[in-house]
Amino acid sequence: MSRFDVIVIGSGPGGYVCAIRCAQLGMKTALIEKYPTLGGTCLNVGCIPSKALLDYSERYFELQHKLPQMGITAEKVKIDAKKLFAQKDAVVQKTVEGVRFLMRKNKIEVFHGVGTFVDPHTVKVQGEKEVQLQANYIVIATGSKPSSIPGVTIDKKRIITSTEALSLGKIPKTMLIIGAGVIGLELGSVFARLGTKVTIVEYLNRVLPGFDLEAAKALQRILEKELEITFYLNHKVTAVEVKRGRTYLTAESRTDAKELKQSAEYCLVATGRRPYTEGLGLENAGLQTDERGRIPVNEHLQTAQPHIYAIGDVVRGPMLAHKASDEGIFVAEHIAGLKPHINYLAIPSVVYTWPELAMVGFTEEELKEQNVPYKVGKFPFMASGRARASLDTEGFIKVLAHKETDQLLGVHMLAPRAADMIAEVALAMEYKASAEDIALTCHPHPTFSEVLREAALAVDKKAIHI
Ligand code: FAD
Ligand code: NAI
Repeated sequence: MSRFDVIVIGSGPGGYVCAIRCAQLGMKTALIEKYPTLGGTCLNVGCIPSKALLDYSERYFELQHKLPQMGITAEKVKIDAKKLFAQKDAVVQKTVEGVRFLMRKNKIEVFHGVGTFVDPHTVKVQGEKEVQLQANYIVIATGSKPSSIPGVTIDKKRIITSTEALSLGKIPKTMLIIGAGVIGLELGSVFARLGTKVTIVEYLNRVLPGFDLEAAKALQRILEKELEITFYLNHKVTAVEVKRGRTYLTAESRTDAKELKQSAEYCLVATGRRPYTEGLGLENAGLQTDERGRIPVNEHLQTAQPHIYAIGDVVRGPMLAHKASDEGIFVAEHIAGLKPHINYLAIPSVVYTWPELAMVGFTEEELKEQNVPYKVGKFPFMASGRARASLDTEGFIKVLAHKETDQLLGVHMLAPRAADMIAEVALAMEYKASAEDIALTCHPHPTFSEVLREAALAVDKKAIHI
């Protein structure tokens, strides 16, 4: 039996970051991962491979559709699908090896195999051989898995999840996607840019629930126009069948009860993810999951057993890598007796389409629902010289500030490089800045970030270039 100060179960961005911070704080730390590579969903089958494919497909699309406007034409442009996916694999491999290096550097002992609680302080690891580990503190960071819907059985061959889509190795002629959420729009963009005819069927009357409605609608229109993606909103998928290597989807319209029938080579199910606790033996630790399969935690991320913490996708809150990592650092510092802090309102969310959609704070819909008085400042990229130069004039930035105090309540960007620009707003919100604070800050010219300043100025009707 090996003894540790802390055992972390799961090596995703929650678990491995937590393990590093524990080690930095002088704790003897073990990390358990059931797969042969470290890094979890994010590095292996999530953020990193999807962003690689989004980057490559965007360049290909630009070469054909944007660069000719700049006087640049390339003849006989071809895609080598095998190479494209192989390059994505190479990026993933380098990234997961990086995590292995960080574990060695921080003297974290890594155990491969499924981690299962034997009792509240003991975890057995069923790998090549079974070992038992004990610790004063245990952190559950076992993440999430794709979920499906009634009537749809994922066979991983034709009816697939994001994991299979990221390793398809070819560009299909047609693809159906169930769910116009983040995965639906990101992977829909990848394949549509590469030439696949993409059709997205969504239950709700809008795309991207949780994001600003106006920005989400505008993004939908851009994807329809530029990538020719077809959207069927307000449709409940009731069945998907595979016949002779083709998928056939049936959905009911929620507005007029008409039936929708669609067929394609592949059907990607992107209807959300569920917390993953199978094989953990939670009952042996005296723990239970809630009605949505999550592990309940208090404000310190402690479970019903105060020495057992849970973080990331397996607990409440947005399923985002940076949220999981922040919680990992929080827990390590809490165990060490420090006074860590997380402001959940200042956690940004990004959809990596083009333009990108990024947000932090409340949406207008939430502010209305909560009867919070607010002011809006909006500025379009059409009026930005920088955006005109790079032909990125679609989109806008919207700043929401409290009507009386001017405190920033939310910022929504449908913008080129929104993913990078939103960090400025997250910092501003951490410091409880006002819209005027951003408006008074000098931004470099010419940049996309000037649009944020103009939107902040527009809150008090002081925008200059419109
Ligand atoms: P995970 O990354 O899921 O890691 C959990 C790990 O625990 C896994 O490796 C699993 O094998 C292991 N494990 C589970 N049970 C056991 C056990 N009993 N014993 C041992 N090991 C176990 N988020 C972003 O912020 N930005 C993005 O751009 C982004 N893109 C995404 C794209 C896709 C296609 C997907 C699917 C997700 C994306 N996400 C993105 C979400 C992000 O990947 C997750 O929020 C993040 O990985 C959660 O981290 P985690 O540490 O909680 O869990
Ligand atoms: P999601 O929750 O973003 O979207 C799921 C969509 O499916 C919703 O719009 C929902 O209304 C729809 N849906 C549900 N049931 C349906 C049905 N029966 N018929 C039609 N539509 C239906 O989930 P998604 O896209 O699967 O992503 C999972 C998680 O991964 C998200 O929570 C997200 O946070 C994370 N992720 C984050 C990324 C990022 O940060 N850029 C990228 C990809 C994933």
